[in-house]
Amino acid sequence: MSQQRTIRNSEGITRRSFLATASVLTLASMGGGFPKSAFAASPIVLPPLPYPESALQPIISANTISFHYGKHHKGYVDNINKLVAGTEFADMPLEKIIAATVGKPDKAGLFNNAAQVWNHTFYWKSLKPNGGGKPPAALMQKIEDSFGGFDPFIKELSSAGATQFGSGWAWMVKDGNKVKVIKTPNAETPLTQGLKPLLTIDVWEHAYYLDYQNRRADYIAAVLDKLINWEFAFENFSNG
Ligand SMILES: [Fe+2]
Repeated sequence: MSQQRTIRNSEGITRRSFLATASVLTLASMGGGFPKSAFAASPIVLPPLPYPESALQPIISANTISFHYGKHHKGYVDNINKLVAGTEFADMPLEKIIAATVGKPDKAGLFNNAAQVWNHTFYWKSLKPNGGGKPPAALMQKIEDSFGGFDPFIKELSSAGATQFGSGWAWMVKDGNKVKVIKTPNAETPLTQGLKPLLTIDVWEHAYYLDYQNRRADYIAAVLDKLINWEFAFENFSNG
């Protein structure tokens, strides 16, 4: 009985890894809204911020961005380059590292740092100065089709971020021709679930604590109201 369970689990993990690899590579080939340089193989580079560090004030302070981008994001980039040096993962694009290490406990360091580099690059693009408002009409239609209206969608996205226990991410994703909301813990990314990310909100404490302390819900509400980049989400929806 116990052996049967082990075998089943082992097959399950293998299949999951296969699906994850296939979906990540498919999504990577779509570009994900990044310039090619963001996907470059080792050394993996810290992509430039799409705006100055002070551009998201007063919603997110330059102080927060200087730590979040300059220390945390940069730290993940430095770590992944150290971890892949001299290994089979050297010279692999980020998405390949993510696909090759997901679900493997002995590769957790590689997965976590690679996925955090990818997630943060995607997060910076999910925000913009003078963002918020309403999505482009075609994306709005998809949201209304999927959620019955814009307000229920915003409520679900806010709730995903607010209820993620501990560190993680709230995501708007494309699943087939539908829009969905999911949350992921720690470094986990929809790339490994066969879902195409459209935008994300980082809900790790380092994303908001200097400005909002424990008020994560206020940070999420302000980001959705003033910074979220619907054009980026629409661009991703349209490109696959
Ligand atoms: Fe972060």
